[in-house]
Amino acid sequence: MCGIIGYIGRQKAPQILIEGLKRLEYRGYDSAGLAVVDNNNRENKINCVKVVGKVKGLEPLVSEQVLNGSLGIAHTRWATHGAPTEINAHPHCDCKKRIYVAHNGIIENYAALKSKLEQEGHKFQSETDTEVLPHLIEKFFRDCSLEEAVARALTLVEGTYGIAVICEHEPRKLVAARCGSPLVLGLGNKEYIIASDVSAILRHTRQVIYLDDGEMAILTSDDFNVVDVESAMRGETTKQIYKQIQEIEWDIKQAQKEGYPHFMLKEINEQDEVVRNALRGRLLMEEGTAKLGGLENVEDKLRGIKRMVIAACGTAYYAGLIAEYMFSEFAGLLTKTEIASEFRYRHPILDEQTALLNISQSGETADTLAALREAKRKGILSLGIVNVVGSTIARETDAGVYNHAGPEIGVASTKAFISQLTVLSLLTLFLGRQRNMPATEGKNLAEELNLIPEKIAQILKQQKYIKKIAQQYAGYEHALYLGRKYNYPVALEGALKLKEISYIHAEGYAAGEMKHGPIALVDKNLFSVFIAPYDTVYEKIISNMQEIKARGGKIIAIATEGNKDIKKIADDVIYIPPAPEMLSPLLTTVPLQLFAYYAAAERGCPIDQPRNLAKSVTVE
Ligand code: AGP
Repeated sequence: MCGIIGYIGRQKAPQILIEGLKRLEYRGYDSAGLAVVDNNNRENKINCVKVVGKVKGLEPLVSEQVLNGSLGIAHTRWATHGAPTEINAHPHCDCKKRIYVAHNGIIENYAALKSKLEQEGHKFQSETDTEVLPHLIEKFFRDCSLEEAVARALTLVEGTYGIAVICEHEPRKLVAARCGSPLVLGLGNKEYIIASDVSAILRHTRQVIYLDDGEMAILTSDDFNVVDVESAMRGETTKQIYKQIQEIEWDIKQAQKEGYPHFMLKEINEQDEVVRNALRGRLLMEEGTAKLGGLENVEDKLRGIKRMVIAACGTAYYAGLIAEYMFSEFAGLLTKTEIASEFRYRHPILDEQTALLNISQSGETADTLAALREAKRKGILSLGIVNVVGSTIARETDAGVYNHAGPEIGVASTKAFISQLTVLSLLTLFLGRQRNMPATEGKNLAEELNLIPEKIAQILKQQKYIKKIAQQYAGYEHALYLGRKYNYPVALEGALKLKEISYIHAEGYAAGEMKHGPIALVDKNLFSVFIAPYDTVYEKIISNMQEIKARGGKIIAIATEGNKDIKKIADDVIYIPPAPEMLSPLLTTVPLQLFAYYAAAERGCPIDQPRNLAKSVTVE
């Protein structure tokens, strides 16, 4: 998704803006630009440079044009309307090049706004939806403040935005506003930074304020105000909104690679610690239950629900599919997991005995957020399992549980998934013990959960071995991932990991479905991965493996330590420690992540920023 950063203070803005954009690169983009108010120019002229491709392409342009000034905005664009070209890159300006806007989001009614503005004589340069904003501001910027003009413009906008605005008329002011696309304000010493997320801010300050939808921040080099857009539109910018200042725990190092070649590999190797962090203070071993502080205010409501609907996207959706098995089997709770982008268009049946659970690493995924808002419109209890503190989904759900997994920078989600499964296991324990799960079963599950971090650490010690296997299969163009029961969603997740970073075509399938079609794919260009730990469906999966073996298909198996027989069927075996069936995905997933990583590395793929993908999909 797009990245925004704005700076006002006493330092040179261009350097700060470029460094901040580099910290936002992981969000995925195809062009970049910045605009700076030239304080040495009598008219406070704004200089703007843009580039297609990487942020570093801005550096020579900044030095050539000797951009200086201590107020500016910058942007990395992930194209939604209009091709990735220089003219479509942000910031965009009005007719007289005096007002500049950087925008993240989609203006759904831009075509109507654009044609009306053109009829009024405005001249457009780009194909983007964003460009209507500076022209609207220009139209309203008469005998009023910049913030009033921005607010008047925004009240005409339908869609989502996170914007930063500067103008020549008020050369010591930066206005930012959000509706649907995240913005966070970093508070420095007489300097302020507005950005899409904290990674662009951490180098300067850890004191931050998260803007909520409908809010506007008015920044000057002396002070800042947060008001709502409606009040700003009426010129009531003294009606400040109190915002809690949050201390960001993540230091800049956490958001760096710490010596690993890629964020993804670093994040895979953090997973034993990630499980410890998710469990910390939440396992009540004696009572055999879980303590989830973020759910305390809805504990009684949760006791009363008869049905849970889970809505999520991508990897988070696969975590939800595993939770469907967990909640049904161990909490006796009827559960349905939905693809969020489908959920809201299929007239979901939601009543007062239903709760909605959103799972989202970023807490900003548009489809997941839309599903949440649809459920809230029907008044049902909404819960979130989210990693990014203060993100929109985290703030809009009635209650929730943070992952505490630290920043996940790699576009391919790994540690967030393992953390989600950990929190979902805790939630299963919590819900089960609210219902019919006996204390003994709860205690056993709690003890087994506590053993998971060490078991993951054992698997991580096999990286060299897994790398060797991955290198043997990196040349294939097709793969089939097969699993049953708790490991069927793991097959989906393993296939997603492989396809999204190595571009090998991979499909995840319920192993029992093989003979209903996929087995026709078995040939020398395809290999199969079977997730086959010792569990209640082990014998079934072995017979599926035999069917592929009999047709000469290459097989990799994920199996439980000590299982020697499986070597007679599989060409390669990766062993994992034993674990209860419900917790096995926490272990079976790890070799699949490493396999995908090393296959992609062997193919020379840009692992942290795969083509066409973004870390957080904040547009529908
Ligand atoms: C997974 O590797 C992908 N990056 C993607 O499917 C991701 O899981 C999905 O977009 C959901 O993101 P969220 O967890 O931030 O909502």
